[in-house]
Amino acid sequence: MARLFFNGDLELLRGKVVAVIGYGNQGRAQALNMRDSGVSVIIGNIRDAYWEAARRDGFEVYDIDEAVERADIVLLLIPDEVMPNVYSEKVLPRLRDGMVLAFASGYNVAFGFITPRQGVDYILVAPRMIGQGVRNSYLEGRGFPVLIGVAQDSSGRALDYALAIAKAIGAFGAGGCAVESSFEEEAHTDLFGEQVIGGGMLFLIRTAYEVMVEYGISPEVALLELYASGELIEVFKAVFSMGLWGQLKLHSTTSQYGQQTRGPRIAGPELKTVLRGIMEDIVSGRFAREWALEQMAGKPHFKAIWRRNLRHPMILEEQKLYRALGRIKD
Ligand code: NAI
Repeated sequence: MARLFFNGDLELLRGKVVAVIGYGNQGRAQALNMRDSGVSVIIGNIRDAYWEAARRDGFEVYDIDEAVERADIVLLLIPDEVMPNVYSEKVLPRLRDGMVLAFASGYNVAFGFITPRQGVDYILVAPRMIGQGVRNSYLEGRGFPVLIGVAQDSSGRALDYALAIAKAIGAFGAGGCAVESSFEEEAHTDLFGEQVIGGGMLFLIRTAYEVMVEYGISPEVALLELYASGELIEVFKAVFSMGLWGQLKLHSTTSQYGQQTRGPRIAGPELKTVLRGIMEDIVSGRFAREWALEQMAGKPHFKAIWRRNLRHPMILEEQKLYRALGRIKD
């Protein structure tokens, strides 16, 4: 079983300057939480709207290279796509022996886009929570799960630093914990989860919509049944508190019977073969290489699939319905 941790030692951060590079979803939430935990935090950012937001929140903001130079511990909280360039141009040249570099995603280290420099700790503190949730949980005294890992332990205390940062960002409030993992495991799990559950859900719902309309069900009724009613939000809240099968008891017995007899037809043996193929693309690095090449080429395929998917009749009907319900404006 993976080791679980429920505390970290904030003393490790005392007298140290923590630079948060990036003030977006995670950067803002983690910086505010650490400051409220009594940690000395500065921000490193490019000169954009996020720079101004950090200033408005009362932080000292510096150019990225200067922030790294002023820091003992650096949290790299910028989009994974831009991270390798920013790292090699602005961060790496300013790293000194004894520093700690923390990531909220294993992606770039796991797939070799960033290689650890000797003399520095490379650690992972990856919240399983969107940035807004990181901040709101902290304010409400609740914790959240984080995956922690060590890619390079130069100080001999890399794991302790990961736990101290997890504590400072609020992971150990009520119900929270840190789970020992690795950059690779986090990156593989994250990609697999989003591709299979996220991607699978998008296309399962769309295919279900096509079949419903084929059988004469109106687009509005189909959309409300499949996702537009918000019922799924309640179902997933129940999954969180009662467990995946536990929440089934909240549905009618007809529904319980239908779900457990028809579900396996969708997730038959051939699905496992498909999922193994997706996992192989991830662990072999094929997906990461494909995405890196796509970005280098200016994302032509990515833009084309976005355009194609937004032209699907389901989306056009969804927009009409959402407009009628006042959820979106013209
Ligand atoms: P974000 O998209 O909110 O990042 C915005 C920040 O990046 C801004 O400060 C912006 O100035 C800076 N930035 C954008 N382009 C830049 C460039 N070319 N050079 C320098 N700075 C640039 O990022 P987000 O979503 O907070 O992700 C940060 C890290 O956290 C990533 O590693 C991500 O995988 C990880 N993560 C994100 C989660 C989320 O809730 N979004 C959840 C868990 C982990």
